[in-house]
Amino acid sequence: MNTPITNPLRVGLRQERVISPQCLVIFGASGDLTHRKLVPALFELYKQRRLPSEFAVLGCARRPWTDNEFRLKMAITLKEKIEESPLDWEEFSSKLFYEPVDLQKPEDVVNLGQRLEGIDRLQATHGNRTFYLSVAPKFYGPGCKALSSAGLLNDPKRSRVVIEKPFGRDYSSARALNQLVQGCCQESQVFRIDHYLGKETVQNILVMRFANTIFEPIWNRNYISSVQITSSETVGVEDRAGYYESSGALRDMVQNHMTQMLALTAMEPPGHFDPEAIRNEKAKVLHATRLADELKPWNCCVRGQYAKGGNQKNPLRGYREEPGVDPSSTTETYVAMKVFINNWRWQGVPFFIRTGKRLAKRLSEVVLTFREAPVHLFDSAGGSPTSNQLILRIQPNEGAEFKFEVKSPGSGMKSRPVEMEFSYDQSFGEPSDEGYVRLLADAMLGDPTLFTRSDEVEAAWRLYTPLLELIEDVPWQLPVHQYESRTWGPAEADALLARDRLLWRRP
Ligand code: BG6
Repeated sequence: MNTPITNPLRVGLRQERVISPQCLVIFGASGDLTHRKLVPALFELYKQRRLPSEFAVLGCARRPWTDNEFRLKMAITLKEKIEESPLDWEEFSSKLFYEPVDLQKPEDVVNLGQRLEGIDRLQATHGNRTFYLSVAPKFYGPGCKALSSAGLLNDPKRSRVVIEKPFGRDYSSARALNQLVQGCCQESQVFRIDHYLGKETVQNILVMRFANTIFEPIWNRNYISSVQITSSETVGVEDRAGYYESSGALRDMVQNHMTQMLALTAMEPPGHFDPEAIRNEKAKVLHATRLADELKPWNCCVRGQYAKGGNQKNPLRGYREEPGVDPSSTTETYVAMKVFINNWRWQGVPFFIRTGKRLAKRLSEVVLTFREAPVHLFDSAGGSPTSNQLILRIQPNEGAEFKFEVKSPGSGMKSRPVEMEFSYDQSFGEPSDEGYVRLLADAMLGDPTLFTRSDEVEAAWRLYTPLLELIEDVPWQLPVHQYESRTWGPAEADALLARDRLLWRRP
């Protein structure tokens, strides 16, 4: 009998997951992300006793706050959680510090170095530092430069930089940013965040595929006829028009989150569960991915923008009426597209990607549709037999379902589709951690598996370059079609699938 291989690296990773003493430095500490996601995630880690006792958070921004003001500001968002465990908050908040820093002023960064040395002495953080750049993207490069010039990135074992998205706004800017960042520190010190990779269910794509024997043999062009990857939101642009107007759905969701889901779904099995082995396979599959019609990208992509909708009681504004949005804006809030992966596994299988704001439902999922049975022996109660589908539900109602045909009860021999379902909630009871909890812990552990490597980011931008160029140079060839808020997007997106005699799933 064959014995499965136990990967020694995997055992090692499992045993060593203890965060060493360190100071997490957050630039942009007065911003939204810090109080909405980062500090709550750190507090969660603290409550789960996953942070070392020699630990500190140093918030940095231009505002002249004191340590105490920073603690009070963070407490506002965490009010409910603090009421549940006031003692934990008391201890945790004593580890929060604040330093006014303007990353563009060299003297501020020198002062920062001195402050960090003070924190090392006070909290015994041993000079281990994770710098989190939660600042406007234009400061990612200068921020790294300032840290490197002040000598704060000199030790590759003790210093790391976490960089938020968006990493560049096209292939050439991402490449230039990579070069700049890599001029300041080693690639092993850089942790590019994509919060989708922090989601339990996104990680589960790998486990479903590679911890079971039943899926992998059929996970290819011989059995799968098409793949749909969807991330739909019901919310609109909210108060982020300033950023979103120059980004749009293609840059905001497709280049990063959707592409990461695509890579995990389509990549080859890595030899080990080892960060570089996984990232190599992701990069490889992205290099093999192409728009379905690179020469005429308008044939394989649809852009949309939400128009008003809702009802009398709850009317919803159209995108162009949102505060801060240009009334004649052509920024897309919806994208649907078709891509192919040119390798042995996937040749000829269309992958459809769609994302949008103000759609009918909030959901993210990967749907694999299998080929029809070669011979139809039975009539289906629903007309023709439906194809088998495996649906990986990323959110909400995290889990997976499998659709297949069974005999319809009764005397005849008709078939009928049914579903078999797994739900995280029902199976495990407890809600899984927020993505940032996992990602912050991994960054502080120095585990890069769930972070995007430089070549992956560049490959993802390269993939969408024909579309970005078209939008820039001849926008009328890729117009934004209006769609009513809280519907499933423009009719043109349905037409994109209709050409392959397919329908979008509308759960
Ligand atoms: C962010 C985008 O990266 O992801 C937002 O900037 C989007 O526009 C969000 O709303 C979606 O994340 P989630 O986890 O709610 O699916």
